Amino acid sequence: MPNPLLIAPSILSCDFARIGEELKRAEAAGADWHHVDVMDGHFVPNLTIGPPVVSAIHRVAQAPLDVHLMISDPLRYAADYAKAGAHVLTFHVETCSDPAAARAVIAGFRAAGIQQVGVSLKPDSELARILPLLDAVDLVLVMSVFPGFGGQKFMPEVLAKTRGLREHDFRGRVEMDGGLNAETIGRCAEAGCDTFVMGSALFGARDMQAELARCRELALKAAPRTVPAR
Ligand code: DX5
Ligand code: ZN
Repeated sequence: MPNPLLIAPSILSCDFARIGEELKRAEAAGADWHHVDVMDGHFVPNLTIGPPVVSAIHRVAQAPLDVHLMISDPLRYAADYAKAGAHVLTFHVETCSDPAAARAVIAGFRAAGIQQVGVSLKPDSELARILPLLDAVDLVLVMSVFPGFGGQKFMPEVLAKTRGLREHDFRGRVEMDGGLNAETIGRCAEAGCDTFVMGSALFGARDMQAELARCRELALKAAPRTVPAR
């Protein structure tokens, strides 16, 4: 059976002056996970959230924290983010020189106590880079914008990677991140995504709960009923 669909509002688009209330607002609207974008100003041209802030978020959040590391040295900080309360921890394959290095990151995340390990790839990275890792991860995060900022336009060409993952019989979660909204979410679900990050479309909505419900409905309607055959 396919994985249940999950919607993960991205706190990158929330009001950081009122982060606790924003987390509660997202949960009241139906958030399954909180997506937390960590940027180091080196792997991407933006700086965001360090472990102490994740720890503070974890103290007030009821939903699991889906931490997306857009940092050059994910292994170095794995234990800090695990301790801070990351439930899902995702690193970028572009930070690793080869599959052996990526496997070492995955092993390090598991050793740190991370429950679900994810690997991500930028829009211009080939799917082939992560194929040797599929047996070792719980989730693949397909980026549909260049990482660094919220509010960018969805890049439909990345949907081929999602289809490719399912054609390779990957049964873990496939998460799409970047430019998701009521116009784009159905195409992602149809291509095999089951986990949807939504930043500006939810935090910028007049009624977050109604918008999240509408998007969930669109995704459910478009999602394949069965996992594609081997
Ligand atoms: C971009 C981040 C995304 C971002 C998505 O680098 O990884 O998670 O918050 O924001 P929207 O949904 O506005 O594109
Ligand atoms: Zn993200």
